[in-house]
Amino acid sequence: MNILITGASRGLGLNHAKILSKNKKNNIILTDISEGASSAFSNKDKKTLNKLLKNKNIHIIYSNLIFTNEIKLITTKIKKIFKNKIDAIICNAGGDIPGESITAFGNKSKTNDYMIPTIEFDQIYKRNFDTAFNILKKIVPLMKKNKHGKIITISSVNALLDQSNEFAYSTAKNSIIHFSKILARDLLKHNIQVNCICPGPTVTSRFLHTLKQRKKNETNILKKNKGLGRIAQPNDISNLIEFLLSKNAEILTGQIIAADYGYSIGK
Ligand SMILES: NC(=O)c1ccc[n+]([C@@H]2O[C@H](COP(=O)([O-])OP(=O)(O)OC[C@H]3O[C@@H](n4cnc5c(N)ncnc54)[C@H](O)[C@@H]3O)[C@@H](O)[C@H]2O)c1
Repeated sequence: MNILITGASRGLGLNHAKILSKNKKNNIILTDISEGASSAFSNKDKKTLNKLLKNKNIHIIYSNLIFTNEIKLITTKIKKIFKNKIDAIICNAGGDIPGESITAFGNKSKTNDYMIPTIEFDQIYKRNFDTAFNILKKIVPLMKKNKHGKIITISSVNALLDQSNEFAYSTAKNSIIHFSKILARDLLKHNIQVNCICPGPTVTSRFLHTLKQRKKNETNILKKNKGLGRIAQPNDISNLIEFLLSKNAEILTGQIIAADYGYSIGK
């Protein structure tokens, strides 16, 4: 399969690449905002990336997905490596932090409810919605041409819970759900599946960095007293992605999947 993964030099995106690259038939293009993004929160991610890039079936391209003119760098790479035959995209770029750092480093907004400064709202919204919106507008026409494709979008359980905190992030991730449902319906006739994963708290370097900055009631996340009492590890989400890309999941489209050990339904 020819697979594109955005936001993939660290965290969950990198782990998806690691799992999917085990199948040597997969040819994978990773994208990220810049070379520095990989080590912004942990050097471990950079080491994993460097190891992964030794595989012949893994390629990387850096571009800021907020800027439509930078998307061209990715489409050129898709043309060169995939000859425009793209089978799947995982729109993973995002995160619950504002800022314009070129390494997508950042801290939580100090005011994170609807009183959040508008500039920070825009930054979080663009990081989570525009990054998927801009790239999908380029990928969908290619998939339509090929008459098949699998699109996986990444939202969050925050979009499913009406929490007053995380206002900008949950608004953006709700837009991802809305967009995913519209795309799924529109693309039925083109044999393109669209599914959206809403991960619950998942241990990544960015998650651990921002955890320290959350309010005390939020840091209780790690006390494992919600849902099934487990905190997701990156493999939990990557394994689900591997399944959604497999033949066994062809029955699914337009689904919004809470992958959270029952976090969004439990006490
Ligand atoms: N870890 C969690 O607990 C959790 C929970 C729910 C949803 N998610 C979502 O999963 C995804 C991955 O999260 P993560 O924890 O690995 O965080 P992360 O910050 O490590 O990963 C986000 C990736 O997106 C990239 N990115 C950010 N802005 C970009 C831009 N403008 N252009 C291109 N790339 C950009 C970053 O460089 C990074 O590689 C995100 O969409 C996040 O919102 C994570």
